[in-house]
Amino acid sequence: MQNRYRHTLFIVLVSASLLGCSAVEQKTVAVQPSPTPDASMVEQSRAAGKALLMQLGGVLKKEMSTDGPVAAVGVCKQAAPAIAADVSKQTGMQVSRVGTRVRNTELGTPDAWNNQALAQFADRLAKGESAESMEFAQIVTEPTGKYLRYAKAITLQPMCLTCHGPAAYIPDGVKAKLAADYPNDKATGYNVGDLRGAVVVRRAL
Ligand code: HEC
Repeated sequence: MQNRYRHTLFIVLVSASLLGCSAVEQKTVAVQPSPTPDASMVEQSRAAGKALLMQLGGVLKKEMSTDGPVAAVGVCKQAAPAIAADVSKQTGMQVSRVGTRVRNTELGTPDAWNNQALAQFADRLAKGESAESMEFAQIVTEPTGKYLRYAKAITLQPMCLTCHGPAAYIPDGVKAKLAADYPNDKATGYNVGDLRGAVVVRRAL
């Protein structure tokens, strides 16, 4: 009886120390910073974001020079979501654009992670960093799983003023078309070099 009791006690103590040990390990894992994203995966996200901007930029420029800015607003309304959906389908990643102030409220409204990226970009721009290759990538755990999230800054170029600039730069026809198509448009009043938004890529890991 005595022996049995000792034996049970021994097992309880060993299990307790094992449990204690695993609890410590878990704690250590939890406080570790999230791992650095894999460079080749970041490169794939970068390429997907670039594909969206290049294709859309091509359509926009062509339309501006052939049919003018009013028609280009209509084309952008169709082409921007279509190209984003197309690039997303081809790459298996979610590729889109978000704005610091938004025109397409459905597609262009930043979520919490995007807002964090935008705030960081605004900060870095204010400190004099060039917008050219300004990007931010992070592995994040969301309720639905782990994702590699990527954002690249978009700043305003002179050609964007016609549709996103201060009122004086926007032709009346464009103003009317924007008011009709985007009654909640907040994406005007930008100057060249301002942070307009970001191209964002979300990829399941
Ligand atoms: C011909 C007008 C026009 C020009 C020029 C134009 N845009 Fe836009 N922009 C739009 C329209 C229309 C949308 C909304 C598209 C949609 O419905 O998805 C938009 C949306 C955006 C968005 C997505 C976020 C949001 O607010 O919905 C970004 C980012 C953006 N534009 C950046 C730019 C930049 C940078 C330039 C210059 C290189 C530019 N745009 C030039 C009309 C224009």
